[in-house]
Amino acid sequence: MNNPYRPIETEVLEVIPETPTIKTLRLKPKEEISFKAGQFIELSIPGVGEGPFTPSSRSSVKEELHVSIMKVGKVTERVHQLKEGDIVGLRGPFGNGYPLDEFKGKDVLVVGGGCGFAPLRSLMYSFFEMSGELKSLYFRGGCRTSKEMVFKDETAEWAKRKDLNLRLTVDKGDETWKGHVGLVTTILDDVKIHYPEGIAIVCGPPIMMKFATLKLLEMGFQDKNIYLSMEKNMSCGIGKCGHCRLDVYYACKHGPVFRYDKIKHLKEIWD
Ligand SMILES: Cc1cc2nc3c(=O)[nH]c(=O)nc-3n(C[C@H](O)[C@H](O)[C@H](O)COP(=O)(O)OP(=O)(O)OC[C@H]3O[C@@H](n4cnc5c(N)ncnc54)[C@H](O)[C@@H]3O)c2cc1C
Ligand code: FES
Repeated sequence: MNNPYRPIETEVLEVIPETPTIKTLRLKPKEEISFKAGQFIELSIPGVGEGPFTPSSRSSVKEELHVSIMKVGKVTERVHQLKEGDIVGLRGPFGNGYPLDEFKGKDVLVVGGGCGFAPLRSLMYSFFEMSGELKSLYFRGGCRTSKEMVFKDETAEWAKRKDLNLRLTVDKGDETWKGHVGLVTTILDDVKIHYPEGIAIVCGPPIMMKFATLKLLEMGFQDKNIYLSMEKNMSCGIGKCGHCRLDVYYACKHGPVFRYDKIKHLKEIWD
C-alpha cells in the first residue's frame, strides 16, 4: 500500500497571478494523482511546511493539476514566491469530494464566496462534463471587490453557456465593476427552481457560508440538500491526528464536503 505521508515530488509548471492575493499553480506530479472535485491535496514546501488545498482544475485531466492559493500566512507566503521549475511535494487526494451521481436529474445551485471560487471551478468543470444530466445549473458568486474576483475571463466565458445561469456580485463596487453590488445572498432570489427539491452547494469563508445557508433555508431549500465544504485546520489528512475533528467526524476523512443536516447541530461549523 502507498504510504499516505510520503509527498510525491511535483514540478511547478507555471505560476499564474489571479488577484493581488491569489495565485494559481500548474503542477506536474512525478506520479499521477487522480482526484474527484471537492477532494483536497496536501502541498508541502521543504523546510517551510504543508497545507491542504482543493485542486481548482479539471479532475478528468490526469497529467497535471492546478491549485489556486490565497496568501494568508507562512506556507502560502512561500507558495506565492514559487517559480516555474521549482519542486514541491504533494500528498493525496484526501476526503470525500462531491457526490456527483446524487445530483443527476436535479436543479443545482452553486454559491461561492472569495477564495471558495477556486475549489468550485473544479466542480463546475465536472458539471459541464455531465451537461444534460442535470435539470438546471445556477452559479452565484461573490467577492469583496472587483480586484479580488478570481477567474474573471473564464467566468465571462461561462456566462455565455446555455447550460448555466451565472451571476456575480461584489460587496463594494468601483469604476471597473459594471455588475451587481451587494452580498452574494442578494443575488439568490432570481434562481427559478422548486427550492424544496433543489440542491445547493456552498463554498467560501465561514461567515459567507453561514449567511448563505440561512438564506437558502429561508428560501425553502431542505437542510439535507445543502452541501458545505468545511475548511477545518488539518494536519495528517487521513483521520489519524484529530486536528480537524468536528464532533464525531474528521473533516479530512468524512468531509470536507458535508450535508448540512449532518452537522447543523454543531456550533463550531461557522468558526
Ligand atoms: C480542505 C481544505 C481545502 C482548502 N483549499 C484551499 C484552496 O483551494 N485555496 C486556498 O487558498 N486555501 C485553501 N484552504 C486553506 C489553506 O489550507 C490555508 O489557508 C493554509 O493552509 C494556510 O497556511 P499558512 O501557513 O499560509 O497560514 P498560517 O500562518 O498557518 O495561518 C493563516 C490563517 O490560515 C488558517 N489556517 C492555517 N492552517 C490551516 C489549515 N491547515 N487549514 C485551514 N486553515 C488553516 C489559520 O487559521 C489562519 O487564519 C483549504 C483548507 C482546507 C482544510
Ligand atoms: S487532519 Fe488529521 S485527523 Fe483530520
